[in-house]
Amino acid sequence: MDSVRLVEMGPRDGLQNEPARVPTNIKIGLVERLADCGLTHIEAASFVSPRWVPQMADGGEVLTGIHRKDGVVYSALTPNLQGLKVALAAGADEVAVFTAASESFCQRNINCSVAQSLERFTPVLQLARERGLRVRGYVSTVLGCPYEGDIAPAAVARVAGALYRLGCDEISLGDTIGTGTPKKAIAMLSAVRQEVPLARLAAHFHDTYGQALANLYAVLEQGLRIIDSSVAGLGGCPYAKGATGNVATEDVVYLLHGLGLNTGVNLDQLVHTGRWISLQLGRENGSKTGLAWDNH
Ligand code: HMG
Ligand code: MG
Repeated sequence: MDSVRLVEMGPRDGLQNEPARVPTNIKIGLVERLADCGLTHIEAASFVSPRWVPQMADGGEVLTGIHRKDGVVYSALTPNLQGLKVALAAGADEVAVFTAASESFCQRNINCSVAQSLERFTPVLQLARERGLRVRGYVSTVLGCPYEGDIAPAAVARVAGALYRLGCDEISLGDTIGTGTPKKAIAMLSAVRQEVPLARLAAHFHDTYGQALANLYAVLEQGLRIIDSSVAGLGGCPYAKGATGNVATEDVVYLLHGLGLNTGVNLDQLVHTGRWISLQLGRENGSKTGLAWDNH
């Protein structure tokens, strides 16, 4: 059966914007539960400045505290060498650098231009490679920017291509503010795949405008097979006002299984994990599948 690799964002993208401090043991519990659901790739932490994103300050404790499951990749965001060194010490299996297709977003998110970000990533990639780690590269604002509006597919392709040539193993395409629609998503992907092989591309769609599943279906039809999602639709981005979470993992799994695509995920267990974390955070469950599951 054709399959899709899911990259779970809940513990990182999902929690980074939570206003109240989430206890480390809850973060660890979330990562462990997600692995037990059959998710094989979990972004568990972020080694960024704690002044910029205080919620992620305990990333080292999260990574060292989890009971690791064989076959699961526990990854972390590392915007610079300083972050990478802490991630390595904490035992991250994979790291990710992140930049944007728009200059304004890049400045607000990581305090430098796109060109400077690529320069900054060069030694990060070098050291990560020396240590045998895979590196992911994120491009934000691929379907729209909160400061610049529409983003040309060629601009996304340029940055994605630069990250790939720098040595990133996989490029994740972020619709940071969820403004994309299927036609735009297809145009963007068509441009990017001229620069990066399709098998190395992931879709990272936020669901702010309720378009994420439609956009995912469109790129699946184009042959893309790596999807980022967040249990219970947790999340948002501190530097993208109004952005809501990634598309909910439960909803993506429901869609994929309906299409006959294998994920390796136990959906019933995932629904319960989504309910558990929503309860812990005192949040409404952002997954439609999670809400409807008892009628199944
Ligand atoms: P900066 O202020 O330009 O950095 O920030 P700096 O090198 O000048 O250092 C300033 C201070 O930060 C120093 O501390 C450093 O030690 C510290 P001080 O001496 O002033 O006390 N610092 C660090 N501390 C811990 N870990 C580090 C680190 N680096 C410097 N790694 C920086 C530059 C990138 C650090 C900052 O802008 C930052 O942390 N930004 C975080 C942005 C972020 O996490 N955004 C959310 C994640 S991205 C996202 O969600 C989008 C995505 O999901 C895709 C999508 O949806 O589009 C991936
Ligand atoms: Mg994101």
